[in-house]
This record gives sequence, structure tokens and C-alpha cells, in this order.
Amino acid sequence: MVSKVLISDPLSEEGIYPLRQNEELEVVIDVNNSPEDLANKIIDYDALIVRSQTQVTRALIERAKNLKIIGRAGVGVDNIDLDAATEHGIIVVNAPDGNTNSAAEHTIAMLMALARKIPQAFRSIQNGQWDRKSFIGVELKNKTLGIIGLGRIGVEVAHRAKGQRMNVIAYDPFLTEEKAKKLGIDFGSVEDVLRVADFITVHTPLLKETRHLLDDKAFQLMKENVRIINCARGGIIDEEALYNAIVAGKVAGAALDVFEMEPFLDHKLLSLPQVIATPHLGASTVEAQESVAVDVSKDVISFFKGEAVVNPVNLPSMSKEALAKVAPFFDLAEKLGVFLSRLQNIPMLEINIHYAGELANYDVRPLTRNTVKGLLKRNLGTHVNDVNAKLLADQFGIKVNEHKTTTSKGFLNLMTVEIITDKGNRRIAGTLLNGLGPRIVKVDDYVVDVIPTGHLLFIKHRDQPGAIGRVGTLLAEEQVNIATMQVGRDAAGGDAVMMITVDNHVEPKEVERLKKLSDIYDVKVIAL
Ligand code: NAD
Ligand code: MLT
Repeated sequence: MVSKVLISDPLSEEGIYPLRQNEELEVVIDVNNSPEDLANKIIDYDALIVRSQTQVTRALIERAKNLKIIGRAGVGVDNIDLDAATEHGIIVVNAPDGNTNSAAEHTIAMLMALARKIPQAFRSIQNGQWDRKSFIGVELKNKTLGIIGLGRIGVEVAHRAKGQRMNVIAYDPFLTEEKAKKLGIDFGSVEDVLRVADFITVHTPLLKETRHLLDDKAFQLMKENVRIINCARGGIIDEEALYNAIVAGKVAGAALDVFEMEPFLDHKLLSLPQVIATPHLGASTVEAQESVAVDVSKDVISFFKGEAVVNPVNLPSMSKEALAKVAPFFDLAEKLGVFLSRLQNIPMLEINIHYAGELANYDVRPLTRNTVKGLLKRNLGTHVNDVNAKLLADQFGIKVNEHKTTTSKGFLNLMTVEIITDKGNRRIAGTLLNGLGPRIVKVDDYVVDVIPTGHLLFIKHRDQPGAIGRVGTLLAEEQVNIATMQVGRDAAGGDAVMMITVDNHVEPKEVERLKKLSDIYDVKVIAL
């Protein structure tokens, strides 16, 4: 089936070439829609790709009944309601690396233009003036650049500032002394940075904690004649506070690529001669636009092929190596969950997933998500998926615990899933046998060896002569062909289980007949 992809912001045509080449995808470019138009159109689409203009709000997501993936061709996902996407099981991917270089270069371009008043001088010469007095600038050499937020772009800016012989001091909650030393920069608290810097540039995401990070109080701490650069996100700087600090003569100038409201041209900051600005151009280079569009296109293609995506935003990302180790267990993990949910359909209080053997050395979160998805699927159907499985479990008050041990008796790897209910606990264990594929090896305390596929009958019975024969005869009468059969028991004459794989679905009336046979306690039909 062909999946429909809507691209609602302008993207590099070269960058989306991989999408266009894919026969399973129909790509529609439809930009500059009003929110109302987009809300009317989105219902038709399986994927949406945006830059920063399209506001992917909760209301839009609620209309997007077929949407499965949102791709953000860029870093910042503040234009996407991530909570709403996660709740609706929509995966969000971005392209975090593709525009790092361009954004860092733009920051340095703004820093230099600000220091030397290049845009103001150009405007003046354009107006026919040869004015050399009004545009005396300052040097960068030996000045201190304060960087707040030392992630991908912050680090690149630090390298380039060192090239200008600037001293660099940075604050980032993840910045260690060792990393600062390696970069040849100083580090301190936000206040330290504010107090000593001649230029301050911010490179954090826009979060609750970073909104108005530079406010009145922050400006008061700064040096006289400090210069400010924001090529990250509007809102990190309180624009009113910045305006006041410039008018008061505390701040000598500001270079802004981003604004609290975008697009917004009639801003009083823009009327100040000390302010230079660009309309959110940090990532606007041929190279960056191609690179982010390629990255996001590749992830959208992988997603529809059922492969792991490289840059998930609302799922933990993993290294390729770790993914290669756990990916073969994806299907088994989900099937263990499905199987268990068929054994016991009463509210779960807790899910314990035990990983034993080699698996315990890896990040098993994708397996946990798949198991939880399998467990919830019985009651939630397609409403549950990898993205929202854990969230839904949380919302239902089900605790999900992962346990790991590198020792595993008899198996190289073993996954055991246990559900705790107020009517008792149930367990199932499975493994991947080298060269033979997945097996269910234990159900509750019964040792079995079953390939988890097709139609299964799980029958609890008393270990008595004739019990197995009666089941076989009844299934034959009902034209149900047995493919394989496994029996496990706790002791001779005690409780036992039959795991029967059959070629066709077993109807409810056949189940009822089976349940009435003597020595049969319970019959469950499981489709895997
Ligand atoms: P990143 O995730 O690599 O780095 C962000 C850093 O900010 C992280 O190291 C994080 O620890 C730090 N941080 C978070 N909260 C902080 C706080 N309270 N104080 C100090 N540091 C804090 O992101 P990035 O790729 O470097 O992007 C940085 C910013 O630039 C983002 O806002 C992104 O959206 C923006 N961006 C803008 C453009 C543009 O066109 N102007 C282009 C690309 C990226
Ligand atoms: C980003 O976050 O990647 C930038 O804002 C670039 C953009 O999308 O224009």
C-alpha cells in the first residue's frame, strides 16, 4: 500500500530525492497553508514533514487520524506538540546534525557583523553617505565570548571563536571540567558567564527552563557594553528586557536571527540602531538544507519499511551496534506480550521483564516497549504502538520494570515476562535459538519448546491417560489439523499444559467443546 507524505514547508528538492524515488510513497508538496487548511488536508496523510513554519499543534494532531510519523527537517521541535504526538502514537524524527555547521557559521557571521557594525555601515553607504566616524567597532581578539548552551552548535561556535583568539567561557548543565579543558575553554555557572563576558551567545533549546533565560535580572549582572547574539530560539531572551537594556546603554548591541514571534517584522527592537537581524537564516545554506532534508527523508523511508529510525525525538535513540544486537528480538518481545495477554485478561498492576545473558549488556528499552505493546494490544488494538506503549501503561497505572542479569541458565539469551495481577502472576519466557529462530521455552512453570507463530491452543489439564487423545479426537472431528504439539507437566498425575499449533483458527464453539472434555481445566486460543 502506498503511504502519503505531505511536505508543508519549503524543503531542498535534492534533499527529498530519496522520498520521491521510493515507490511505496506518494509525496505531496503543499506549503503556506493556513492552520485551517492544513487541518482539513492532514486527514489524508500518513507522514508530515515540516521545517519551523508549520505549527504542529495538538488540534492538528487530533485531526490527523492516519498520521504515523512527523519529520522535522532541522533541530528544534518546539513547533511540534510532542506530548500530543506521543499520546497519539505518532513518532517524531528530526535532523539534529545537518545544520550544525551552518548555524555555527551564521553565529560567527552575526558576531563579527555586530562587532564591526557592518549592516549599519552598509545601510549608510547605500544612502549615499561616506561616514567613517559612526561605525567604529570593537575587536574580538582577547575579548571573552560567553556561550550558554554548549551542545552541537555551542561547541562549533567555541572552536571558531578560539580561531578569532577570543577567550571562551561556557555554561551547560552537561559541561564537565574535562570537556572544557579538552576544548580549551573556561566554564562556570550562568552567572559567571554573564558577569565576565564581552559577548554572550545562547545555544540552548527553548524549554520552560530556558524561556527568558536572559531577563532583566540577567542583564543587570552583565558587563557594561556587553553584546548579545541569539541564533538559537526566540524566547530564550526576554525581548522587552533586551530593549530596555539597550536603551539604558547597558547593552551595546544585539544580533538576532530568531524572535519570540515569527514571522514578525514590526518589532520595536528593530528600530534600534544597535540591533542587527536576519529572518531566521541560521540553517539557510544550500548544504544544510540538503543535509537536513536527506536525513529526515531517510528516516521516513526507514519507518515505512519497518526499520529503526536514526533520529527519533519521542523515543530513545540507540547506536547502530546496540540496535543490531536487540533488533532480532523485537518480534519475540511483542509475541511474548501478546501470548501473556491471552492467558490472563485482567488488569495488570505490574509488568516485570527480565533480560538474562548477553542481552543484558545492551539497551533493551525497545524490547520493553515491544513487550508492553504486545500486552496492551489485546484491549487497545492499533491504538498502542512503540511510541505510546510505555505512556499508556503509565496512564493505566501499570508499573513497568526492567531487570537484567548477564548469567542465563541453558540459553545464551532469555527474556522472561511476568505480569502481576491481583489474581496472581503469570510468566512466559522466550529465546532466540542460534540458527533456529525464536522459541517460547517456558509458560508459568511449564517447560515447553514452541515456535511463536500461527494459531496456538494453550490447554491446561490434569495429567491423566486419555486427556491428550480426547483433545486430538475432538480437533479431528472439527477438521482442525494439528501441526505440532508440546506437553509439559509439574508432576505425574498433576497439572499439565498442552501447547498445540494448528493450521487454522479454532472457533469459539470448538473451544467450548474442548473445555467440556474431562480433565481439561482451561483452553485459550492464541494467534501470533
Ligand atoms: P543541542 O541539543 O546539541 O544543544 C543544546 C544544549 O543546550 C545542550 O548541550 C543542553 O545541555 C544545553 N542546555 C539545555 N538547557 C540549558 C540551560 N538551562 N542552560 C544552559 N544550557 C542548557 O542543540 P543544538 O543543535 O546545538 O541547537 C541549539 C539551538 O539552536 C536550538 O535551540 C536549535 O533549535 C537552534 N537552531 C537554530 C538554527 C537557526 O536557524 N537559527 C539552526 C539550528 C539550530
Ligand atoms: C532548526 O532548529 O533546525 C532551525 O531553526 C532551522 C530551521 O528549521 O530553519
